[in-house]
Amino acid sequence: MKQVFVKTYGCQMNVYDSARMTDALAEAGYAPTGNAGDADLILLNTCHIREKAAEKLYSDLGRLAPLKARKPGLKVAVAGCIAQAEGAEILRRAKGVDLVVGPQSYHRLPALVAEAERGARPVATEFPAESKFDRLPRIRQAGISAYLSVQEGCDKFCTFCVVPYTRGAEFSRPEAAVLEEARLLADNGAREITLLGQNVNAYHGGPGGLAGLIREIAKIPPIRRIRYTTSHPLDVNSDLIRVHGDEAKLMPFLHLPVQSGADSILAAMNRRHTVAEYHRILGRLRAARPDIAFSSDFIVGFPGETDADFAATLALARDAGFAQAYSFKYSPRPGTPAAGEDQVPDAVKTARLAELQAALEESQRRFNQGFAGRVVNVLFDRAGRHAGQLAGRSPWLQPVHAAAPERLLGSEVAVAVAAVHANSLAGEVAA
Ligand code: 5AD
Ligand code: SF4
Repeated sequence: MKQVFVKTYGCQMNVYDSARMTDALAEAGYAPTGNAGDADLILLNTCHIREKAAEKLYSDLGRLAPLKARKPGLKVAVAGCIAQAEGAEILRRAKGVDLVVGPQSYHRLPALVAEAERGARPVATEFPAESKFDRLPRIRQAGISAYLSVQEGCDKFCTFCVVPYTRGAEFSRPEAAVLEEARLLADNGAREITLLGQNVNAYHGGPGGLAGLIREIAKIPPIRRIRYTTSHPLDVNSDLIRVHGDEAKLMPFLHLPVQSGADSILAAMNRRHTVAEYHRILGRLRAARPDIAFSSDFIVGFPGETDADFAATLALARDAGFAQAYSFKYSPRPGTPAAGEDQVPDAVKTARLAELQAALEESQRRFNQGFAGRVVNVLFDRAGRHAGQLAGRSPWLQPVHAAAPERLLGSEVAVAVAAVHANSLAGEVAA
């Protein structure tokens, strides 16, 4: 049997897509391998969100050249958002690439690989009328904590973001198809489902939107936990807030990117909400579910960001009580509106990022410290770092490890927190 090595860059959507492509390739006779040296096919599932992410692809492709020289039959495929954005340009720039496939064409992957094996260098980056979701094979394996893509693309057009161009217009999978996949995941061992979409709370594949979908998935008995990511503040509606209040399987954690703490920058980013509105949304969610915790994304050095704007971002990062957050230097993306604006010098971005990250780390430390001595529910989903340990997540997405027998894998277990580390908790299984 031939073997495929898959490397995934970027977001959880790509992790999900890689799993589905692996399933599709399995039907075409490719077994997955964790060792690129054994592979007959190397599939790089790429990210285009920031320039650095894109540069990684080309340096990785450079490193594959000796492998290809040693094994002439080896095929290299580039998938994901760089494939979509750059298409045939990749073939010109990287001679070792045999095929390029964009996110809406993954159901065609086995046929494209067959073409590449015949010596062609196919490029598939169109947005076909048929949905790849209807054409990809069924789930073969599920982790205890599984991803499920329910929505793709985005119509918001934030002025920094490539997603509307790489993933296309917003599209929701029909609720019936999502529920069928959720049941299949549960049958294959999933106990937690994270619903994925670039703009997941804009989901409209069923009558009740995302809130309705969450309520339906909660009815599947083996599923103990539900999460969703990533959300836009504009689409946090009353139904969604209510489901946080009354659906016990929905975890009390929400990733809600804010990007900036300055209203003028939010306006320039076309976020279409203010800082006060963002705070109001957090407040309403906390009223519905008092123990809910938040994480966020921030961009520093967006064109036009002044010292005062950045100070406002810092204030938001300090005051909102985030459990965790990601922050990035603004990276101009070709074809997006903000890329053509006057840019903030890189040294300024670097200094602001360091200051913001220190504030966010402090917020995370404070959040985690609050768990010392508490008992938290942990869904054990993997072996721990040391023998005899299992690891999993708290409801607030903190990694937790504890000494525990393997039979507890897949169970939600009460753990008494004995130690709080920077990014994780350690504890003992409570009787
Ligand atoms: N530059 C820097 N960060 C970006 N993000 C999206 N586009 C850019 C960009 N051009 C960040 C946003 C988003 C996260 C996934 O990546 O914060 O929420
Ligand atoms: Fe990167 Fe965005 Fe594509 Fe995800 S959707 S891989 S974050 S560019």
